[in-house]
Amino acid sequence: MGSRLIGYGSYLPEKIMTNQDFEKIMDTTDEWIVQRTGMRTRHFAADNETVVDMAAVAAQRALDNAGMTIDDIDMIICATTSPELDFPSVGVQVLGRLGASRNQPAFDVRGACTGYIYAMHCARAFFTAGMHQRIMLIGAEKMTRFVDFNDRSTAVLFGDGAGALIFEHSSSGYSGIIDTVVMADGREFDMLHGTPDHKIAMNGPETYKRAVTCMPEAASYIMEHAGISADNVDWIIPHQANLRIINSGAQRLGFPLNKIIVTVDKHANTSGASGVLALSYALDNDIIKKGQLILYPAFGSGLTWGAALIRI
Ligand code: UT7
Repeated sequence: MGSRLIGYGSYLPEKIMTNQDFEKIMDTTDEWIVQRTGMRTRHFAADNETVVDMAAVAAQRALDNAGMTIDDIDMIICATTSPELDFPSVGVQVLGRLGASRNQPAFDVRGACTGYIYAMHCARAFFTAGMHQRIMLIGAEKMTRFVDFNDRSTAVLFGDGAGALIFEHSSSGYSGIIDTVVMADGREFDMLHGTPDHKIAMNGPETYKRAVTCMPEAASYIMEHAGISADNVDWIIPHQANLRIINSGAQRLGFPLNKIIVTVDKHANTSGASGVLALSYALDNDIIKKGQLILYPAFGSGLTWGAALIRI
């Protein structure tokens, strides 16, 4: 019992914020940002643009790509950490926006930057149990809601956007979401967290140290579980938090740099949307091809981390 990817779509807000734009409003430089993070641009949602707005556009594009309507979908799982409303879920609001009429279930997963892997883990469980035929997985974030422009150490790191993937149940266990692993360590929650006044608090260097070990750990677990090595994997799509973390993780795993999908330079860190946006980007640009195997490690606040193995 498995799944297959039958549609994808993404949305990035129109406004692009460059490193040079940051130079004008805070004590930072393009050189520092590029050297320390690999980031060059990020998309900023408009003031009145919400997570639901972005998620609904990405979802509709995924439906168009699959040649379907929302009522062909049996469930929405949305990874988000930045919804404007505490309730109802972004997933349910997307159902409403797209005019769903079948009372199909929808819910959000709050896994921060590992959110889309947690969502894939849930989707895989539902497919394995044979409970749902088609699941839409959304990653959508307005991280700029939390950006403190007085804190240069975090302000430059984040961007907004949304991506959606549609998976359909399949009798083959070797396509779609083949395997997932998710982990969490709540003892370290204060390394990276949201504050009561909706700002980001992060110990960057400590978070960095954990990211460069946790992502390879989860990726290695998945490869060992699947009985494969780095040679069998066509692409690695790591969570896009920092190019140095991405390159160091790939090196630890024995992946050549030309097998890594990188969007952190264009999108910066979009948290729970990052991996979904990166896959959409790679498919849109014909980088990833049908039949290829993708390893998907992620790491974020919680601490949470995990990985997925996906065949397109
Ligand atoms: O997505 C969830 C997971 N998140 C992550 O994995 C992020 C992990 N952490 C990181 O990516 C890195 O720690 C950062 C990119 C956040 C920071 O890079 P770093 O190399 O760890 O820098 P640092 O925090 O050790 O700061 C080094 C220096 C400091 O100055 P002093 O004390 O050496 O004089 C900072 O004040 O860089 C300074 N600095 C900046 N300078 C210019 C911090 N932010 C900036 C900035 N522009 N924007």
